Amino acid sequence: RCGAQQGGDLGNTNQALDGIIGFGQSNTSMLSQLAAAGKVKKIFSHCLDTITGGGIFAIGEVVQPKMKSTPLIPNMPHYNVKLKSIDVGGTALQLPSHIFETGEKKGTIIDSGTTLTYLPELVYKEVMAKIFAKHQDMTFRSIQDFLCFQYHESVDDGFPKIIFHFENDLGLNVYPHDYFFQNGDNLYCVGFQNGGLQSKDGKDMVLLGDLVLSNKVVVYDLENQVVGWADYNCSSSMKVKDDKTGAAYTVDAHNISSGCRRQWQKFLVLLVTMVCSSLIF
Ligand SMILES: *[C@@H]1O[C@H](CO)[C@@H](O)[C@H](O)[C@H]1NC(C)=O
Ligand SMILES: *[C@@H]1O[C@H](CO)[C@@H](O)[C@H](O)[C@H]1NC(C)=O
Ligand SMILES: *[C@@H]1O[C@H](CO)[C@@H](O)[C@H](O)[C@H]1NC(C)=O
Repeated sequence: RCGAQQGGDLGNTNQALDGIIGFGQSNTSMLSQLAAAGKVKKIFSHCLDTITGGGIFAIGEVVQPKMKSTPLIPNMPHYNVKLKSIDVGGTALQLPSHIFETGEKKGTIIDSGTTLTYLPELVYKEVMAKIFAKHQDMTFRSIQDFLCFQYHESVDDGFPKIIFHFENDLGLNVYPHDYFFQNGDNLYCVGFQNGGLQSKDGKDMVLLGDLVLSNKVVVYDLENQVVGWADYNCSSSMKVKDDKTGAAYTVDAHNISSGCRRQWQKFLVLLVTMVCSSLIF
């Protein structure tokens, strides 16, 4: 998604979001309509580059890079998956197992229509405590709804890597440069939000948004009802199979920094609400 004016929600015509394209599972999404017209298979992927900007979006089966996948939970309106555990800095968080149960208002959603990542309160507190365990003396300042801090070294050297583990032994690697976003020189803000403070419906859910899905290829294979991903350089290219001929072709990254990236950085500071994202996917 790339929009210049984001606010309100999709159901409201006088204040709708722009730059959102429907790639949900419903029959009304653009992907379903293309598939129904016999144009494409229901497989698409994105590779969002937060390092140099831009990235890759493709429809079709990705043949390179190779990646592992995890099943989508059937009959859900969103891209729901089964999260099993979370490691921070190589140690699994000790969380009650009900945290990972799936259900209508529980469970984990992969949502590229949301920028940030929302965690249930208990998970949020554990994750934050582990992230800042080696920085007890850190002073935070609040900028809009974000927790921000000054840091003069490489965040990747000073903070732990997080791995979200999913069913079928698939891990989502999230590095400090993914879960923090820079807001000016040496000022970093945390891309995790306490879902407990959000709307009632979403408060027990894990919602994984763009920041943690960045700098990897993420494939949504609705034909086989799986999603998969792999760490990747989103400024390079990947290979996608042509359904008709079976041949693989290269899809290059596009530099959209002149237009979209600036907006993307600017609008990181705007919350795309749960309400809006649940309408999209
Ligand atoms: C969506 O399309 C499929 C295939 O055409 C159809 O079987 C299904 O009933 C449709 N679902 C809805 C909610 O319209
Ligand atoms: C990513 O790929 C681009 C294009 O091939 C290349 O210029 C860049 O150096 C690569 N970045 C890394 C970190 O390897
Ligand atoms: C992308 O475009 C911007 C602005 O047009 C330019 O400054 C930048 O060097 C370009 N980056 C790459 C990787 O081509």
